[in-house]
Amino acid sequence: MLHVPVLLEESLDFLITDLSGTYLDLTFGRGSHSQQLLNRISSQGRLHAVDRDLEAVSFGKENITDPRFSIYHSNYSEIDALFPKQKFDGILFDLGTCSTQLDDSYRGFSFQSDGPLDMRMDKSSGFSAAEWLNSAPENEISDILYHYGDERSSRKIARAIMEFRTKKPLQTTIELSKVIETVLKRTGKTHPATKSFQAIRIHVNQELHHLRMGLSKLHNILKVNGVVVIISFHSLEDRIVKNFFKPEIEQMPKDIPINTSVSETYRCIKKKIKPSTHEIKMNPRSRSAVMRVFEKL
Ligand SMILES: C[S@@+](CC[C@H](N)C(=O)[O-])C[C@H]1O[C@@H](n2cnc3c(N)ncnc32)[C@H](O)[C@@H]1O
Repeated sequence: MLHVPVLLEESLDFLITDLSGTYLDLTFGRGSHSQQLLNRISSQGRLHAVDRDLEAVSFGKENITDPRFSIYHSNYSEIDALFPKQKFDGILFDLGTCSTQLDDSYRGFSFQSDGPLDMRMDKSSGFSAAEWLNSAPENEISDILYHYGDERSSRKIARAIMEFRTKKPLQTTIELSKVIETVLKRTGKTHPATKSFQAIRIHVNQELHHLRMGLSKLHNILKVNGVVVIISFHSLEDRIVKNFFKPEIEQMPKDIPINTSVSETYRCIKKKIKPSTHEIKMNPRSRSAVMRVFEKL
């Protein structure tokens, strides 16, 4: 399935403040936001894009040959190292995964098609879902399922995974999905493995850690009056975004360096923008999206 961009026009309406400006798309994916941004800016404008997924970067190199465009394989948590001197007029985060990642069984994100239990967006680093599930202690697995997936049966699922592990290591997405189905029966439309797969994906990719790091680097690479647009797809991400930019509360963990007070650095332009009923009807994946917009002071 093609990746259908979410809040495409609305995000660019806020992001583009200068048609000749320089922009940064931190989550290129399959490039719909990038392509549309290039359609809008002038011949003097520039767009740099980043993705931690090598397949996304290859797609960008092959499909967007516009001289105003460049793409890099990087994690947005290291964005200041990639652009030590450059300052941008606008920066876009469209968080989470692409439909193309979820639909490719070989990437191991989907409980519906069989594939290696991997789930890494960047296969060149980190640990796979199988490596983690086959070695983590039971309470760690249960905590991750509960905190990142809001999975109420986290303890029972973690127990079932441990029991499976005594016979053989978990290797495939369908094996994991079947283990979960021994604990949770199918009811309604939602597959019983949905929450656990989300939780494991967030953990394997350290998504929340990288988001916090990425946000903490923004002030180094945004121009004054530059805009940051962030589209989140679940409450864990949106809470981090909301709290990061909250004027009076500094809630970043101690290991994340922040040289400037966030409240002195940003102004909230738009608190919470949701997709229209029409967009949700055309693209049900967009229903959980929340967009927030901030300006650097
Ligand atoms: C929702 S998709 C973006 C879709 C894109 N806006 C489009 O129009 O096709 C999210 C993308 O962000 C990438 N991504 C997620 N976390 C990242 C990170 N920490 N650093 C860089 N890229 C990341 C994923 O690999 C994925 O391709």
